[in-house]
Amino acid sequence: MPRELPPTAGLPLRLSDLWPGRAPFAEQVARWLGVEQLQLECSGTAAMVVALRAMHRLRPQRDEVIVPAWTCPLVALAIHRAGLRLRLCDLAPNHFDMDLGQLCSLASERTLAIVPTHLAGRVADVNAALDVAHRVGAYVLEDAAQALGATQGGQSLGLLGDAGFFSLAVGKGLTLYEGGLLLTRDPVLRDAFAASHRDTIHRDARMDWQRAVELLGYAVAYRPALLPLAYGRPLRKALAANDPVAAVGDDFGPDIPLHTVSHWRQAVGARALKRLPAFLDGTREQALRRVARLRQIRGLTVFDDGPGQRGVWPFLLLTLPSGTARDEALAALWTAGVGVSRLFIHALPDYGYLRGIVPEARLPNARSFAARSLTITNSPWLDDATFESICTVLQRAVGLPG
Ligand SMILES: Cc1ncc(COP(=O)(O)O)c(C=O)c1O
Repeated sequence: MPRELPPTAGLPLRLSDLWPGRAPFAEQVARWLGVEQLQLECSGTAAMVVALRAMHRLRPQRDEVIVPAWTCPLVALAIHRAGLRLRLCDLAPNHFDMDLGQLCSLASERTLAIVPTHLAGRVADVNAALDVAHRVGAYVLEDAAQALGATQGGQSLGLLGDAGFFSLAVGKGLTLYEGGLLLTRDPVLRDAFAASHRDTIHRDARMDWQRAVELLGYAVAYRPALLPLAYGRPLRKALAANDPVAAVGDDFGPDIPLHTVSHWRQAVGARALKRLPAFLDGTREQALRRVARLRQIRGLTVFDDGPGQRGVWPFLLLTLPSGTARDEALAALWTAGVGVSRLFIHALPDYGYLRGIVPEARLPNARSFAARSLTITNSPWLDDATFESICTVLQRAVGLPG
């Protein structure tokens, strides 16, 4: 029987998660993270819109948001939707963090917020962003969409900066199909986020039904035997049409749903949450072993935790020495059903549909990162033998001339 592995380690749902019910989902996640309060939104993107609108209301003379040039296109759409302007910061060489020199020169009295971004469950350099932000009087909003459960110095991400948000979208570990959680340690911002939610977010019965059906679909189809249909077939079709943006689901429309999250989806999330700590421990143990194995392949850069950091591991993010080597590896692995994929296809200005929102800029490091990076699923369904076969392909690819 054909099998297909998902590109990330999502927490599978069980039938018993799906019974009717109600639960204080955000409070339960807050208790688990050891934080005072979390504000539930219908997506990470919606959380970002709500947060940025609140920040803008508090500092109305500021209208620019600085983000890494290689990040989720939804970030650009959220900033636009909040009525703000995007400033792109190139990446540091061969890293997902922003280049510090460029960040310093971009920050000004117009900067509303800087958005350090914790990609792939790894911990970004929030302190550097804080230094720059506080020099010019801007906020730091941590994009922890891919890092729910990650900590730095024993504390949840999102507490070092002025605020942070997590995503509960499919593939992010714990999922409500779509969802987001907004966090701040600042009481003024907390009140402003609540007010922004009241102004921006409304109940939408049609979206409640749609998301309920989608969450049921996830519960049914998120297993290797059914993923060939739900994930593999659309992936192959998009790649055959030479559309890598669609292949990784980076093709977003301009419409950002802004609605409340139904009680039932919260109850499903609350039941699944009980299994999340053990799931994160297991995927962490698997990831650390595999990072050590990948480190034996000369020429690969594999991202992991620095001192005091304890990230989460939805997938492993790595770069190869050249775009040629990366493409060679993907030619063998992307459609092989083994959970190898790419994260964001382009630096932000290179998505056609973002033209008009995202300024053109010289971004050599972000473009290089987009061309040389790939991801390996950290799903428990990826067994050691299959992982080893991925290593063999990577080894061969890095041996190629650049
Ligand atoms: C880095 C990053 N920021 C923001 C988002 C937006 O989150 P959501 O999909 O929950 O709207 C994502 C989602 O993919 C992301 O990866």
